[in-house]
Amino acid sequence: MKNISILASGNGTNAENIIRYFSNEKKAKVTLVLSNKPQAKVLERAATLGIDAFFFDRSQFYDTGEVLMILRRRETDLVVLAGFLWLVPEDVLEAFRGRIVNIHPALLPRFGGKGMYGDRVHRAVLEAGCKESGITIHYVNEKYDSGDIIFQARCPVLPDDDVNTLAERVHALEYKHYPEVISRLLDNPE
Ligand code: GAR
Repeated sequence: MKNISILASGNGTNAENIIRYFSNEKKAKVTLVLSNKPQAKVLERAATLGIDAFFFDRSQFYDTGEVLMILRRRETDLVVLAGFLWLVPEDVLEAFRGRIVNIHPALLPRFGGKGMYGDRVHRAVLEAGCKESGITIHYVNEKYDSGDIIFQARCPVLPDDDVNTLAERVHALEYKHYPEVISRLLDNPE
């Protein structure tokens, strides 16, 4: 059985969806959820579902190697970012080369980069007058939103959309595709 560890900073609806998907799978389980925000709802969601969930601070991620240590100790096969807002440090990237993935709520390479997350992305898409948006699942590297793209799915942007209606449509795509793409990656690692 393979082990998935999730890093998340916020609400955690994707994390919860992935946990639930793999709770019915034999080949892999989410065994760890880590968050850089002590009050993040994702920690509560994971704990409620019986998954070990911990907070870590900047120094445990970037200086002391403690986050890397726990990922290793848990025999993590795949690190999944789900609404995680910090850059991943070099030692973690190296230890999990080709085994760290992220989801972005737009069609990269547009609308990515530092500061582009969540509703800010949807607002930018609406302000640019795009006729479509979507999701991008990609490998994680040392820069924001610029690793090799694994998968994209599209949805329309409707004339009367606001940030909330667009976010809802994009979230639905995330819930449908992220667990399936993760599952395929576990079958065929890079
Ligand atoms: C998701 O839409 C995810 O794509 C986005 O944050 C949201 C987290 O929602 N990630 C980024 O914007 C990364 N740049 P959730 O906490 O409810 O899963």
